[in-house]
Amino acid sequence: MVRFLVNGETVTVPEERKLIDVLRTDLGLKSVKDGCSEGACGTCTVLIDGKAVKACVQKAARMEGKSVMTVEGLSDREKEVFVYAFGEAGAVQCGFCIPGMVICAKALIDENPDPTREEAAFAVRGNVCRCTGYKKIIDAILLAARLFREDV
Ligand code: FES
Ligand code: FES
Repeated sequence: MVRFLVNGETVTVPEERKLIDVLRTDLGLKSVKDGCSEGACGTCTVLIDGKAVKACVQKAARMEGKSVMTVEGLSDREKEVFVYAFGEAGAVQCGFCIPGMVICAKALIDENPDPTREEAAFAVRGNVCRCTGYKKIIDAILLAARLFREDV
């Protein structure tokens, strides 16, 4: 068995479980989407010790002692800012890709509070959106970064 944290709570799971199955099926964290099951689309992205990682290609065995965060584990302030920024920028159409985009945005902004447009685009390079064409998503990430900086 393996023990690790998910959104601050300790979980104990069999080593052979896939991380995405632990999160979605065992814990009911439905923000973690299964778009491809093979590491190609980014919809399953979560933070592992602060880094954006695709949960569908991670075995629980590698999680011992680590801290996993999904969108459900964001602070109220972070949720408020990302919901506002993605809505204001018109970045959400079907919404399927958005949790993975938000996780990548958080990983970026936590390290680099004032990213350039190029840095924001690079942060979501592994995330497929079939709806928006990415411009509005990048607008949303830059708006979120500004709101966090200005604390409004
Ligand atoms: S479901 Fe994990 S990358 Fe597509
Ligand atoms: S908003 Fe539909 S896949 Fe991105």
